[in-house]
Formats: sequence, structure tokens, C-alpha cells
Amino acid sequence: MEVIVAPSYAGMSLRAAEVVCEAIRKEPELVLGLPTGATPVGMYRHLVAAYEGGQAGFSRVRTFNLDEYLGLAPEHPASYHTYMREHLLAHVNLAPQRTHIPNGASPDPETECRAYEEAIAGAGYLDLAVLGIGQNGHIGFNEPGAELRAEVHVACLGVETRRLAYEYWENAVANPFPSLEDFPDRAITMGMGTILQAKRILLLASGESKAQAVSQAVAGAITPHVPASFLRLHRDVTVLIDSEAASVL
Ligand code: PGA
Repeated sequence: MEVIVAPSYAGMSLRAAEVVCEAIRKEPELVLGLPTGATPVGMYRHLVAAYEGGQAGFSRVRTFNLDEYLGLAPEHPASYHTYMREHLLAHVNLAPQRTHIPNGASPDPETECRAYEEAIAGAGYLDLAVLGIGQNGHIGFNEPGAELRAEVHVACLGVETRRLAYEYWENAVANPFPSLEDFPDRAITMGMGTILQAKRILLLASGESKAQAVSQAVAGAITPHVPASFLRLHRDVTVLIDSEAASVL
């Protein structure tokens, strides 16, 4: 595991975008795993700027997002489909048929999970998986627990994960959820096996709230109680974090 500490969120974001652009330059047909959340917003901004500046092109890239909330249609303002449109897809030359995000509104989530895993497997699994990490050490929605699931599956959000995600909407200009009770409590997520099949993994973390999880993932026991610790079983992982997230390393 290589750990790179950037001095700031801005530095982390720029370096993350550079890693992605370099990977696309080397392999224009890159199969790219993508995260959502607050952490990668800066990386996406740099990727859009690189595209606009002619330093990056996505025409042959295929993307697979890590997860999506169960029950939210692609058009829902809180869906990860919407997030991806706003932060990347509306701004770069990624053809819709080459971008994949689980359908949270599928009437048959189990079939949706199997089809998503098969689509990733059919692409030869991810060449580069960009990941965030939860304060509790989750990766995607692989939450801490007694066991982890290997393949794409429907996961229950932990109480804390759900509360933190809802908090974002509570503070937003427009909150589509009347209360926490209305926020999704399940999600479709890649499993740890799906993620670990990636040829290369780039884990991003920013801020003091992630420092404990980063430290446990990088230097603690490998345990399903810290899902990110399983990344240590992979031979090509770069942990790219800002100095605050590195503060207890
Ligand atoms: P965040 O989420 O980037 O919004 O902190 C990361 C995660 O929970 O995986």
C-alpha cells in the first residue's frame, strides 16, 4: 500500500485527477470505477477542466459507479445518477452507454445486482477503482459488520452512515426528504470482491473526520469491522489523502 499525503484537499484532488488522466492516456479504453460523496468533488472538477483544456478525453472509457441508493430513481435529486451528471457526465465526452450506475429504482433489485456484477465482470473488472472511505471505514456501502459480501448486493446503511448522508440534505438549499425516516436505508453496492478484482485502487480521504478510519485501514487489523482494511490484501493500492486525514497515521 502506497500512502501519499497531499498538503491540502486541493492538492489531493489535483493529484487524484492526474492519476486518472495518466491511466486514460496509457489505456484509452480504461474501465474506471467511480465514487460519489463530498471527497471526489474536487477530483471531478479537475477532470472536467482537463477535458475542457484538451488534456483528457473519455470517448473510449467505460465507467462503473460504486453504488446507488435503493428506491431513488435516476432523476431523483439525491440519486448518485444526478450527482454524476452534475459533477462529470454532463461536462465530458463520456457516452451514456459507456457509463454504468446501478438502477436504484429497479423493481427487482436482486436481478439488478446480478446484472451489474455481470456487466463489470464482462468488462474484465475495473482497471482503476477510485474509492472514498466512510468515517466508519466503509467502502462503497460495504458497512462494518461480522462479514462482508463479495459481489454486488443490496446493503443496509448503518445508522451513522444514513444520518451523515441525510445531514448533507438537511443543510442543502432544497431537501427532498421531509425527515431522516424518508431517507433511503438501503443501497446497491459493489461488493468487496468486486472492488478487490480491480487491477489498481486509488483510495481518497480528506479531513480529520476520516483520520481514524484511514489509520485503521492502513495500519490496523484486517477485519470486516473496518471494510477498508481489506484493501491491504490487494497488491496495487494508493492511499491519497490530505494532511488532516493523515493526522493519526
Ligand atoms: P464522503 O463519503 O466523500 O462524502 O465523505 C465517502 C464515503 O462515505 O465513502
